[in-house]
Amino acid sequence: MSSNGARSIACLPLAFADWQFKSRPDLAPPRLNITIPVASDADKGYLFVAPFAGFPDKPGETYGPRQAAPYSFRDNGNLARWNGKDVLFSFEGDHNALHGHGHGHTTILDQHYETIRELRAGNHKLTDKHEFHVINEKTALIQIYQPVPRDLSKWELDIETGKLLFEWSSLEHVLPDEAVLPLNPGQAGSGYNSSDAWDYFHINLVDKDKHGNYLISARDACSVHKINGTSGEIIWRLDGKKSDFMLGRGVKFCFQHHARFVSYEGDEEIISLYDNSAHGTEDGRGREVHTASTSSGKIIKLNTRTWEATLVQSFYPPDGLRSKSQGGTQLLPGGNVLVNWGSEGAVTEFRADGTPIFHAYMDSGFLGEGVENYRAFKYNWIGLPNEPPAIAYLGHGNDVAAYVSWNGDTETAAWRFYSVIGDLGAREFLGEANRTSFETLLSLKGLRVEKIVADALSADWKVLATTGIATLEQDVEPPRRRLRAVSV
Ligand SMILES: *[C@@H]1O[C@H](CO)[C@@H](O)[C@H](O)[C@H]1NC(C)=O
Ligand SMILES: *[C@@H]1O[C@H](CO)[C@@H](O)[C@H](O)[C@H]1NC(C)=O
Ligand SMILES: *[C@@H]1O[C@H](CO)[C@@H](O)[C@H](O)[C@H]1NC(C)=O
Ligand SMILES: *[C@@H]1O[C@H](CO)[C@@H](O)[C@H](O)[C@H]1NC(C)=O
Repeated sequence: MSSNGARSIACLPLAFADWQFKSRPDLAPPRLNITIPVASDADKGYLFVAPFAGFPDKPGETYGPRQAAPYSFRDNGNLARWNGKDVLFSFEGDHNALHGHGHGHTTILDQHYETIRELRAGNHKLTDKHEFHVINEKTALIQIYQPVPRDLSKWELDIETGKLLFEWSSLEHVLPDEAVLPLNPGQAGSGYNSSDAWDYFHINLVDKDKHGNYLISARDACSVHKINGTSGEIIWRLDGKKSDFMLGRGVKFCFQHHARFVSYEGDEEIISLYDNSAHGTEDGRGREVHTASTSSGKIIKLNTRTWEATLVQSFYPPDGLRSKSQGGTQLLPGGNVLVNWGSEGAVTEFRADGTPIFHAYMDSGFLGEGVENYRAFKYNWIGLPNEPPAIAYLGHGNDVAAYVSWNGDTETAAWRFYSVIGDLGAREFLGEANRTSFETLLSLKGLRVEKIVADALSADWKVLATTGIATLEQDVEPPRRRLRAVSV
């Protein structure tokens, strides 16, 4: 939450309230650390992120965010269009930090934040957290980590691999010979024994084009593969040990994430991806492998006649960030590009020419340390929560104020406050305040009324919802010791 009015619209309450919002004392969303304030030509959508603490809490040590959850910030979950409707989806399940996999299911929420679907992988398999990608608003691609026991005396290893719904399995098409990630003691997927299978492929995304072919990223082979959607055969490999393309200047990438088909015309295909150029575990143990000085977002043009790959544009991080895990590149509809720096817990919006026009870390102060974020997206979103707005009416000496918020709402432009008189609920207008942030307050100075209520107003002055009736409560001192610690 920042001075430019970043606004949190979705979050899970946990037991770490920090008194940021008097109307919702149960919420403690991260405070964005915005180091490049947003430019006027930034995309107009909301930023959807789901930051989490990369380090486990140890006694005496605390890491942010205090409430790891999906958040949406203004100027800044995951959002897709599904069946003609805007929906939010999120992976719900267990995160296996050591191996960077997840086991769970996908939940789809509507505009009112009600669950409308829970999707499971089926076939006695558990959905992995890396990918949920809606194709043609009808179907979704997911991926699954399936450890496969094999007699691989040649490599003296067991192998762990990905499997797609259409039963494409990396082991049938890509030999572990192509792995770039070295055998690495102490690192996830190192392959040193049977309980830590070698993650030679580490599938971390899948996309489908209009011809029904798939794009698959093999992170640990530093290559992106196009797969025939009918036969499962590899159509081409980009980068890695067996690239079908000559790599032009700046194309080379490694340990990448989030590759996407962008366009396809004649012999030319364009893809985007996030080039980590680094590999390591989230908790910092084990050995880190680097192939470039920073990570970057990349747009790459592939010519399948000349078999040349050329860099269309790259997007470099403002602070020389290099993320050893996670990350993504999203091409925004107006031409700007959003790059999410994964394990570095930061996000940048760029102009098409690579100029950064917004940069933020996903928490501030000591809580900003070790915050990670798998993907970030910017999308338009209309949030119409079913729950009523929250109100608190608090006084401390002569300081009397009403505080309102409506978690998940995007439509309120202003709030109108009324005193409620007598048992019939007659209202007397007290004042109005424009919505500036997640929470809006109306200061009543010395005026004390018995009961107070507020209407949420849309930009065209329609009443969207009304809060419950609040009575004056003594405002307790904020927990100053903790607040001081936050601002360190
Ligand atoms: C397997 O190897 C990992 C290191 O890669 C080690 O931490 C773990 O203790 C080993 N497990 C067994 C059963 O040897
Ligand atoms: C994909 O495989 C099918 C079936 O083998 C074949 O007919 C088709 O030409 C292939 N497509 C491409 C793009 O290679
Ligand atoms: C914001 O991030 C910058 C760059 O990492 C850092 O120098 C600064 O201390 C951070 N500020 C806060 C309040 O966390
Ligand atoms: C509220 O916003 C409107 C429209 O932007 C503006 O005209 C008005 O002056 C603002 N009111 C206050 C109290 O800031």
